[in-house]
Amino acid sequence: MSHASNRPNSPSSGPRAGLDGVLAGETRLSTVGVTGVGLTYLGYSIEDLSEHATFEEVAYLLLYGHLPTAAELRSFRDRIVANRPIPSALCEVLERIPGRAHPMDVLRTATSMLGTLEPEQGPSDALRVSERLLGVMPSMLLYWYRFHQSGQRIDPTVGGSSIAEQFLWLLHGGPPEALQVRAMDVSLILYAEHEWNASTFTARVVASTLSDFYSAITAAIGALRGPLHGGANEAAMELIDRMQDPDHAEKTLLEMLIKKEKIMGFGHRVYKACDPRSDIIQRWSHKLCSATDRMLLYEISERIESVMRREKNIFPNLDFYSASMYRSLGIPTPMFTPIFVLSRLSGWSAHILEQRANNRLIRPLAEYVGPEMRPWVPIEQRS
Ligand code: ACO
Repeated sequence: MSHASNRPNSPSSGPRAGLDGVLAGETRLSTVGVTGVGLTYLGYSIEDLSEHATFEEVAYLLLYGHLPTAAELRSFRDRIVANRPIPSALCEVLERIPGRAHPMDVLRTATSMLGTLEPEQGPSDALRVSERLLGVMPSMLLYWYRFHQSGQRIDPTVGGSSIAEQFLWLLHGGPPEALQVRAMDVSLILYAEHEWNASTFTARVVASTLSDFYSAITAAIGALRGPLHGGANEAAMELIDRMQDPDHAEKTLLEMLIKKEKIMGFGHRVYKACDPRSDIIQRWSHKLCSATDRMLLYEISERIESVMRREKNIFPNLDFYSASMYRSLGIPTPMFTPIFVLSRLSGWSAHILEQRANNRLIRPLAEYVGPEMRPWVPIEQRS
């Protein structure tokens, strides 16, 4: 049998830890950190989108490749709202998942379960599945949450006409204020898409095997969960919660930095000078903290930022000021990363479609660093 392969015998350059700086493919969905361009979704700047668009418009843009007309947007929103109901078998599963589970695990399990109840019927079904998930994901999350918090079986179909409004409505059990809805909507826009980040790459790897849509999304949720990626917004909140005031925050941060601890919500693999999403969410955090009498939280956050800039020259990423803003919206900390899912679902879906449209199995190489070739040792001779 021949073992001939494409593997280079002596690679010209060694592996890049964490694939840092490796160009792994093409995308037309977003630019991240391109000099003079920054973050764009299909050519629209994140500043324009967060100022003028709604999350549903952005999700439509990502899925369909163009901004919707008024009629297209109306119809898209109607379809998302119509996709809110949860199948009864899935309600039963959500009731049986422990109330102490992490909500990211709930979303991962619920997405997988939905894939057994309503499987993707071939590649032409992908857009239907992505719209279904956009509609039902907040329902699944908050059905589970409210059932275990208060024993209530909520009706997830109520809750206004947008995902932002529905999330806050179902969470708090009543209609949110317009300012809160807009803050939530902006946050969803900022989280929607970010090129070949870890969870998107995961989704594309799964899609590249010609697996189904639900498998790709379930895997992406798993990748997003970790604190080096989406889980950083929860970890940032836990850090801020430990601080009594800005001076205490400064002292604690300095101690942490001496111990070489990582400060969650800071730094980025691709951005080198700033995360353009951070300025936007920081303004919203200020607005919401001041509207809800939580300025201490904001001042502590600001002090942490200034210590990080002064001591390490490291800037906050989107996750850092998202934490104080979500707190000002009355959102429990374990819900922070799940909100990222509700939004990034749009980016993941667009990437799965893009991968499928020009697919080649994603299968890189690894440099072997294990033992030299050695003879087989029968079991009775092993020590
Ligand atoms: N706190 C303290 N030091 C940091 C931080 C941080 N948050 N981020 C980077 N550094 C330091 C590292 O200690 C390292 O220093 P050294 O060279 O002296 O050892 C150097 O900067 C490079 O750090 P790496 O972790 O190697 O950078 P990498 O590109 O691999 O990581 C990452 C990027 C994972 C985002 C990193 O900055 C980090 O761990 N940040 C905290 C987690 C976080 O906020 N994740 C959210 C990412 S954005 C998002 O998902 C929306």
